Amino acid sequence: MVVHKNAQERFAMAKRCSGCVTLWLTSITGLSLPLLWMDMVNRGPGNLIKTVSATQTSRLDTCMIPSHSALVTYTLPRLATLYHTYLSSEQIPCKQGVRLGRTRSGGWDVCIDEEFRLADPCVVYSFGVGKDFSFSEEMTRTFGCFVYAFDPGVKRTGRRQLQRLIFTPEGINNFTGYSRQRRTRMSTLKEIRRHFGHCDKTVDVITMDIAPTELAVIPHALQHGDLHSVKQFNLRLGNPAHVLKETTENYISRLNVLRDLCFVGFRSWIINENNKCLFHSDVLHKHVIGCHEVSFLNLRYI
Ligand SMILES: *[C@@H]1O[C@H](CO)[C@@H](O)[C@H](O)[C@H]1NC(C)=O
Repeated sequence: MVVHKNAQERFAMAKRCSGCVTLWLTSITGLSLPLLWMDMVNRGPGNLIKTVSATQTSRLDTCMIPSHSALVTYTLPRLATLYHTYLSSEQIPCKQGVRLGRTRSGGWDVCIDEEFRLADPCVVYSFGVGKDFSFSEEMTRTFGCFVYAFDPGVKRTGRRQLQRLIFTPEGINNFTGYSRQRRTRMSTLKEIRRHFGHCDKTVDVITMDIAPTELAVIPHALQHGDLHSVKQFNLRLGNPAHVLKETTENYISRLNVLRDLCFVGFRSWIINENNKCLFHSDVLHKHVIGCHEVSFLNLRYI
């Protein structure tokens, strides 16, 4: 487990977004964080539009991504700019973050602030684990969580059984049933929660590394309310094998997912860029990152 000792500083320093929206962390003590909200969309730097108090800020609509019907009128460069800007800075702070599992692709960041404290019998779902159980094992060992790990491509895990680590060689999707393509059963999040008796239970953490299926799974899960009682949602949006392809359709489906997650209350607290997904954008004429690891906290629990 890697403790982000300087998580607060990290947050303050992560505000590298220029000319768009900046959250300034003015104080980091107490539960209600006094934040200065500076909205500088389409205006010169220093052009302060509104300043609101902390409590207001956390509830404020920071989603910034217009509706689907507006997005379809955007040009490709405008979509690309919006997408990369949105993912260039985190939306809310977590005072204490830790990384469990591998430092790189197998691991995930988790917030362990008071509201998100992980304690027995915490419940974790991890989708698309591949053969890397480093995160799942550490979640079980460190916090005593029940970890439900899934991957449709892994038939035999070849690892020692842990009592609270339940592996299912199936996948999450926007339907429940057999998938000929994946040659295994697929289930919706609702069906998985029902199967494990978690319909009315809070799920502490969900991690998802299933590119490109996240773009079908998340809209479906949101539509059916299956993510509302999830405290932390960690998403790999794209991966090195599924780097963003620069089409209008792709940008819009990723932006739709980010906006809809924001609308139900998910705010990013840490965004890791995977340099393996760096590519030269023909749309923006510069190098950009084509996949991100985004960790969200659900405002409902703050
Ligand atoms: C599931 O996702 C696929 C791919 O995006 C889509 O074509 C299909 O209509 C979706 N099905 C449901 C039930 O949402």
